[in-house]
This record gives sequence, structure tokens and C-alpha cells, in this order.
Amino acid sequence: MAILVTGGAGFIGSHTCVELQQAGYDVVVFDNLCNSSEKSLKRVEAITGKPVKFYKGDILDRGALQQVFDKEQIDSCIHFAGLKAVGESVQKPWEYYENNIAGTLTLVDVMRNNGCKNIIFSSSATVYGDPAEIPITENCPKGQCTNPYGWTKSMLEQILTDIQKADNEWNVVLLRYFNPIGAHPSGTMGENPNGIPNNLMPYITQVAVGKLPELGVFGNDYDTPDGTGVRDYIHVVDLAKGHVKAIKKLEDNSGLNIYNLGTGVGYSVLDIVKNFEEANGIKIPYSIKPRRAGDIATCYSDATKAKEELGWTAEFGIKEMCADSWRWQKNNPNGYDD
Ligand code: NAD
Ligand code: UFG
Repeated sequence: MAILVTGGAGFIGSHTCVELQQAGYDVVVFDNLCNSSEKSLKRVEAITGKPVKFYKGDILDRGALQQVFDKEQIDSCIHFAGLKAVGESVQKPWEYYENNIAGTLTLVDVMRNNGCKNIIFSSSATVYGDPAEIPITENCPKGQCTNPYGWTKSMLEQILTDIQKADNEWNVVLLRYFNPIGAHPSGTMGENPNGIPNNLMPYITQVAVGKLPELGVFGNDYDTPDGTGVRDYIHVVDLAKGHVKAIKKLEDNSGLNIYNLGTGVGYSVLDIVKNFEEANGIKIPYSIKPRRAGDIATCYSDATKAKEELGWTAEFGIKEMCADSWRWQKNNPNGYDD
């Protein structure tokens, strides 16, 4: 039996394939490569020494998904496939709702038609909106999202919850990721953003490698210790390992479960700059810019539930996250395009 990994060629998906294979699972990747390269899967194979079965296809394409179920023995799915650029989602809401929501509905329908009712879904801390409590537990009420991308996550959580409630043969794990950064410690796999990065760490690494002149810090007048935004950064390898633990939860037939995947520690933008400089011996020039629309002051998790119920805790610290992000960028200045 194998695990279907939709979006498995992407940043988090490819790292999760490594951890799944190393834990003894067989993976089948399904990805349309709209935001990734098949080369990431070659790197997975180089690390694990095992082949990765790959199907190029779109989760909106029912026939392509059915072919996978016809050819492979799939007993569960980790569903990463989706569009994720917050700003783009504001410009192209239809495309985001179509891809993420219609795509997931199609996937889930094909799964149940083939008797496969185990799914782990990539959700996000964005579903908490401006959180009602800090640190954020899973009981914190979901909030108002500030963009269509966030709403797709919030709505898909509801859709999967309702499907599980109506048919208790389904096992659903909703994983709410905080801010994934870092890269595989080998330096051969990492984040590969298109164009100018929106997220903090890839922006910093592109400043470090000389592609961008300086970092813009979006606001220093938040109600935080140094005025800059505070987030819960988590190493992508830790995040990937969280999925391996969540697979075990699916195997226990435990219905619906929701977990935060974060470290429980918040760092400000300036903390990240300082840690990156110390970890890598590189100066990051920056200047203070206006706040970015839709940003909140503080977002970090209470990571207790995943520890107690999944036996999972993030192990990498901020210095390792900074060192690994830089090793990937330095070794692969053009990502997988080299
Ligand atoms: P990514 O863009 O690197 O990976 C997503 C993958 O899905 C890509 O390989 C892309 O080609 C594929 N894909 C997109 N639409 C598809 C479709 N219609 N059919 C088939 N494949 C499709 O992103 P990532 O950072 O690895 O994120 C993985 C998941 O985690 C996404 O669902 C994302 O929304 C979620 N998430 C990411 C973050 C983050 O900060 N990176 C935070 C919270 C949640
Ligand atoms: N920031 C800057 N300059 C930049 C980029 C970011 O100062 O060039 C700041 C932001 O203002 C924020 C922090 O760095 O305070 C982190 O910003 P990111 O864009 O890296 O991450 P976000 O917290 O805004 O959002 C990310 C993902 C979302 C996901 C969320 C989950 O982009 O998809 O984490 O917490 F939902």
C-alpha cells in the first residue's frame, strides 16, 4: 500500500516524501508542477536511495486521478496540492477557489469512489485570522481571513469536517502549519519561489546571495517587543516529520483530528535577521517600510496537543533553520533551475 502525496514535488511535499520513505512508507506523487520542478523528486531519490513514483496531473482532472487509483494501491492521501500566494489570491480569487476548493472536492470524490477515506490536509495558521488568544491552541476560534487563499483553507477545513461527520469511515487530519522555513540539511532540497519572494526567509536568502539589495521590514510599530511582526517559524523537516506522525493517527481510525504544527516560540522579523546573520556570518541590510496589508502583529502556536497526541515536537532551533535555508540558497542560487 502507498500514500498518495498530492503536491509532492513542492517545498513541503518533497521534504515529506523524504521522511515518509525513510520511515518505510511507499509514496506516489501527483503534481501538475505549476509551482515546482520534477527535479525535487530526483533529490528525494538521491537522499533516500528509493525511487519516487510520479504522476504529472492536475487535481481538477478526475480522469488523471482515477488512473493513479487504477494503477496503484493507495490507502491514504497527504494533500499538499494548492495555490498558496496570498497577494496573488487577492488578484485572482476565482483561480484560487477553483484550484484549491474544486480541486480538493474532485480529489476527495475520486478517493471515496475508490474506497480510500484517509486524508491529511495542509491547513494553515491563517485560519485563526487575527487570533483571539496567544499562544494559539486548536480551540482558538477560527477568525476572519484577510485574503481568498486563507478562505480556501478555512472553507476546506469545514468541507472535510462535514464529510467526515456524514461518513465516519473517513479519517481526516487537519494540520495547521505555522511558518515553514529551512531546507533539507543536505543542501540539495529547499524552497524555490517564483519571482521576487513574498515570504521573509526566501527574501533574506536572496539578499544574502546578492540577488536583492536589501530586506524591507514591513512595519516596526506593532505591539511586539521590538515593534516588528512575530511568527512561529518551523523547520520544514520538522514539519515533514509531523506528517509521518499524523499518518499513524490515520491508521488508528480516529475520525477527525486537528493539530497545530509549530514550535510554540515566536520570533520577530529583526530576531530572524539577527539569527540569520549570526548563524551564517553574513550581514543582511534592511530598512523599515510601511506595514503590509493584511499582516497581524503576533502569531505563534501552543504546540502541546501535537506533542501529547502525536508524540511530535519540533526539534530544530532557529539557528539551524537559518543555516539550512542559507546552505540551500548558496548551493542552488537559482533553485532547481540550475
Ligand atoms: P508549493 O507551491 O511548493 O507546493 C504545492 C504543490 O502543489 C506544487 O508542487 C504545485 O505544483 C502543486 N499544485 C498546485 N495546484 C495543483 C493542482 N491543481 N494539481 C496538482 N498539483 C498542484 O507549496 P508548499 O509551501 O509546499 O505548500 C504545500 C501546502 O501547504 C499548500 O497547500 C499550502 O497552501 C500549505 N501551506 C503552506 C505554508 C507555507 O508557508 N509554505 C503555510 C501553511 C500552509
Ligand atoms: N516580512 C517582512 N518583509 C518581507 C517579508 C515578510 O518584514 O519581505 C514580515 C511580515 O510582515 C511578517 C513576517 O515577516 O511579519 C512573516 O511574513 P511571511 O510573509 O514570511 O509569512 P506570513 O506570516 O505573512 O504568512 C505565512 C504564509 C501564509 C500562511 C502563514 C501561516 O505566507 O500562507 O504563514 O502562519 F498562512
